[in-house]
Amino acid sequence: MIRIGSFTEYERKYDQSIENPQEFWTDYAEKFIWHKKWDEVCTGDFETLGVQWFPGAKTNMSENCLDIHLDKRGDHTALIFEPNDPQEKTIKYTYRELHTEVCRFANVLKKRGIKKGDIVTFYMGMIPELLIGIIACTRIGAAHSVVFGGFSAKALADRIQDCNSTTLVTNDGSFRGAKIIPLKAVADEALTSCPLVQNVIVVKRTNVDVSMKDYRDVWYHDIYPDVEDDCPPVSMDSEDTLFILYTSGSTGKPKGQVHTTAGYMNWAAYTLKNVFQVSKNDIYWCTADIGWITGHTYITYGPLLNGITTIMFEGIPTWPDPGRFWAICDKHEVTHFYTAPTAIRSLQAMGLSFVEKHGLGSLKVLGTVGEPINEEAWEWYNKNIGKNECPIVDTWWQTETGGIMISPIAGITKTIPTFATLPLPGVEPVLVDKKGEEIEGNPAEGNLCIRNPWPGMTRGIYGDEERFRNTYFSAYPGLYFTGDGARRNEDGFYRITGRVDDVINVSGHRIGTAEVEDAINQHTSIVESAVVGYPHDIKGQGIYAYVICTDDVDDFDIFQKELVDLINKQIGPIAKPGKIQITKGLPKTRSGKIMRRILRKVAEGDTSNLGDTSTLLNPDIVDEIIKGANNI
Ligand code: WT7
Repeated sequence: MIRIGSFTEYERKYDQSIENPQEFWTDYAEKFIWHKKWDEVCTGDFETLGVQWFPGAKTNMSENCLDIHLDKRGDHTALIFEPNDPQEKTIKYTYRELHTEVCRFANVLKKRGIKKGDIVTFYMGMIPELLIGIIACTRIGAAHSVVFGGFSAKALADRIQDCNSTTLVTNDGSFRGAKIIPLKAVADEALTSCPLVQNVIVVKRTNVDVSMKDYRDVWYHDIYPDVEDDCPPVSMDSEDTLFILYTSGSTGKPKGQVHTTAGYMNWAAYTLKNVFQVSKNDIYWCTADIGWITGHTYITYGPLLNGITTIMFEGIPTWPDPGRFWAICDKHEVTHFYTAPTAIRSLQAMGLSFVEKHGLGSLKVLGTVGEPINEEAWEWYNKNIGKNECPIVDTWWQTETGGIMISPIAGITKTIPTFATLPLPGVEPVLVDKKGEEIEGNPAEGNLCIRNPWPGMTRGIYGDEERFRNTYFSAYPGLYFTGDGARRNEDGFYRITGRVDDVINVSGHRIGTAEVEDAINQHTSIVESAVVGYPHDIKGQGIYAYVICTDDVDDFDIFQKELVDLINKQIGPIAKPGKIQITKGLPKTRSGKIMRRILRKVAEGDTSNLGDTSTLLNPDIVDEIIKGANNI
C-alpha cells in the first residue's frame, strides 16, 4: 500500500510510478475487495481513446466504501451531517448505520425498477440521502449523474436528456441559509421536456408544498419502511460507468464526463490518503457541494474508501453569521479542512472577529481547490485559520481528472503560496508552447498537458467521442490537454495561471462563455454578444458581457434585469454577469471571428498592450469599446 511519509519517499514513489506503473498500482490496488483480480493494470492510450485501468477485474464501489470497514470499524463514525440551521440536531452515522442506509436506498431503487446500467439523476440539497443515494447506485450498478441544486430547470433538463436518464431523485426543497430552494417545483418544470423520466423519488426535507404526479412520483419515506436492511453488492467490471458528471467547456452544451469504477476508486482513495495524510481517527471536512466533482471525490468516495469520518454541511458559510465554518470546525473537531479560495476571500472580507471566537485547535491540514489562490488569501488562511501550523495543500485538478493531480503532500512537500507545487506519483505534467512543442528545463511557462493515462481520468464525454478527442487529445497529439496554463519555477514547482480557453472560473465554478452567450442571445433585442472573464476580488473571475442591441436601450436597469432573468432560466444564478456593456460592434478578424483577446484585455482594464489591431475588420471599434468600458 502506498503511504508517502517523507519527501525522499515521495521522490522514490514518483520515479516508480513513472518507470513501473504496473508495480506501483498493483501495490496500491491490493487493499480493496475484488470479486476478480485484473488481467492487466492499464491498457490503451490517448491515441486510441481506449484507456482501461484494471481490465478484467470485478469489484463494487459501495462494498469498498462500507462493507470493507464493518468488521473492524463498524462503529466508527462515517458521516457527520451538519444541518443548515445550527439549532437543528447534527446527525451522525457509523459505518454500520451508513451501510444499512445505503442498502435500504439501493432496495428502494430496485423496488422502483432501477437496475444495473441505468442512469439516475440526482437534483438535491446537501443532505445525507444525496450521499447515501449515489453510493446506493454504485451498489446495484446504476450510474449516477448529480446535477448541482443551483442549476435552473432548463440546465437540469439538458443534463437529463443528454444521457437519457430515466430516474430522478430530488427533494421537496432545500435549505440554503435563510432561503428555501423549491427543488421539486424546478424539477417538475424540467421534466415537462424529459418524457423518458418515468420515475421520480422525492426525499422530504423542507416540508414545502409540492405536487406529486401519479405513478411517476413517489415519496422516499413511503417506500423506505418496506425494504430490507441488506442488499448484495453487484459485481461490476472495472470499466463499467460509475457516474457521469456534467461540466462546462469552451463551446456548446455541457459535457457529461464519464468516470468508471476501478480506476476512479483507486484514484479517489489514493489521492485523499496521500495529499491530506489522513489517519484513521481524523475528521475530514470538504465544504464543496456533491453537485461538483470535489464533493464526489472528497466528501463521498475518498473519505469513505479510507474509513475516516467525513462531514457534510447543508448550509452556506455566511449564515447565520460568517463564522459558521469555524464554528463547525470547533464543534466537530475537524482535523482536515478543504475549501475554495473564493470562500476564503469572502470570509476574509468579513473581518477577523468572526474567526477569533473560535479556537480552531483541532485543525491539522488545510486545503484549497477550484481556482488559483492569490497570495493574500493564502497568507490569511495560513495565519488566521491554520495559526501558521497547518500545511496548506493547494490542489490542482479537474472534473476530468477525477481527483487531485498536482498538489503538495501535506507536511512533506515544501509549500509556496499560489503554487500547486509538484505532481503526485502517477502524474506526468508537461508544458507545451504555442507550436505544440514540449518545453523542457526550468523555469518555463506554457499550456499544461499530462503525458500518460492515470486511473482517475475521464473515459469519455457521454455520447460524443469526437468532442472528447477534439477537446483533450487533438491540440497536442499524444498528450491530454487540460485547458489551463501553468508556470514551472527553477525547482520544477508548478503554479497554475488559469484557463487558456473560453472557460471562466467564477467562484471555482466552470462556466463556458458560449453557454452564457447562448442565454443572452435569447433576448429579442440582442443581435450578438461576447462573454469574457474579468478579475473579481472575491469570485476570482466575474462574467463580463459585451452585447450589441437592435435598438437603443431606454432603461438599462430593466434591460439588465431581463438579461439576468434569462441567464437564471437557462443556466442558474451562478452565471450572472457582473458587468454588461452595450456596444455597437465587436472586434472581428477578417474571417469574422471575434477577437476575444482584445475583449479580455479591456475587461481586465489593461488596454496598454492590445497588440496589432490594424488587421481587424473594424479597427475603430476598439476605441469605442475602451471608452464604453470606462463608463461601467
Ligand atoms: C478547473 C477545473 C478541481 C475540482 C473543482 C473544480 C481550476 C482547480 C485549481 C488550483 C488553480 C485550479 C483549473 C481547472 N483549478 N484547482 N488549485 N489552482 N486552478 O473542477 O470545475 O472541473 O474546474 O479549475 O482552471 O482546469 P472543475
